Amino acid sequence: MTRLSNKTALVTGGSSGIGLAIARQFQNEGARVAVTGRSAESLKVAGEMLGETALLITSDAGSLPAIDNLMAHIGEAFGGLDILVLNAGIALPAPLEATDESSFDQTVNTNLKGVFFTIQKALPLLRPGASIIVTTSITNRLGSPNFSVYAACKAGLRSLVSSLALELIPRKIRLNAVSPGPTATPMFERFGLPAEVSQAIKAQIQAKSPIGRFGEPNEIAKAVLFLASDDSSYIVGEEIVVDGGISLL
Ligand SMILES: NC(=O)c1ccc[n+]([C@@H]2O[C@H](COP(=O)([O-])OP(=O)(O)OC[C@H]3O[C@@H](n4cnc5c(N)ncnc54)[C@H](OP(=O)(O)O)[C@@H]3O)[C@@H](O)[C@H]2O)c1
Repeated sequence: MTRLSNKTALVTGGSSGIGLAIARQFQNEGARVAVTGRSAESLKVAGEMLGETALLITSDAGSLPAIDNLMAHIGEAFGGLDILVLNAGIALPAPLEATDESSFDQTVNTNLKGVFFTIQKALPLLRPGASIIVTTSITNRLGSPNFSVYAACKAGLRSLVSSLALELIPRKIRLNAVSPGPTATPMFERFGLPAEVSQAIKAQIQAKSPIGRFGEPNEIAKAVLFLASDDSSYIVGEEIVVDGGISLL
C-alpha cells in the first residue's frame, strides 16, 4: 500500500503501544518514520520491529530544549515533515489529596504543554499539505476519578485542536485528533498497581464496554492513518472517537 509514499512522519511516544502501531502502519503505507520515547532501551526494542530505516530519537516530550533538539535532528535527517503525530502521554493516577506538584507538572508538561510547543516548533518543517494528529482520550469528556489531571490535559488538547486547526488551515496544514477508549497497551502496567487490582479494573472495563473488549493499538492506528492521509483531506479540527462505544454510556 502506498497511501503515504514519499512522506516523512514523526510520531512522539512511538516506542510502545499505540504510537508503535501508528509508526508501523505508516511504514507499511510507504512513509519514512521517526519515533521518540524517553527510554533508549524501549526505543531499541521498537527499532527491532521498525527496521533500519526508522529514525529512533530519545527525547522528552515535556522539555522545550529537547523539542528544539528534536526538530533540529528531524530537519537534518528528513529536511521537512508531512505528518506529525503528538502521541506521547503519561497517566499518573492519584486521588486529589495524593497529587503533588511534581506529578501535576510532569503530567501537564508531557500531555499538554509539550504538545503545544512541539506543534509550534515543528512549524518551520511542516510542508504545505501536512497533517498533524493529536492522541487525546475519551477521559476528556467524562468524569475520571483519580485521573483528574490527565483528563484535564486531554480536555485541553481537544480545545487546542479546535483553535490551532483554524490557525493552521490557512497554511494548508490540517490538525485533528484521535480519542482512544481503553486500549491494550503497556500503559496499564505502568500504573504500578498490584497484578490482581489491575486485573480487576480491566475486567470491570471489559464488562462495561458495549463491544465487550479493549481496543487493539492497530485499531487506533487505523484512524490516525486515515487522518494522516489524503483520504481525510476535508476534515479539519475534528476528534475521532475510537472506543467500542464505551463513551456513549
Ligand atoms: N492505552 C489506553 O487505554 C489509552 C486510552 C486513551 C488515550 N491513550 C493515549 O494514547 C497515547 C499512547 O499511550 P499508550 O497506551 O500507547 O501508552 P504506552 O504504551 O505507555 O506508550 C506511551 C509512549 O509515550 C512515551 N512517552 C511517555 N512520556 C514521554 C515523554 N515525556 N517524552 C517522550 N515520550 C514519552 C513512551 O516512551 P517511554 O516508554 O520511553 O516513556 C511510550 O512510547 C497516550 O497519549 C495516552 O494518553 C491511551
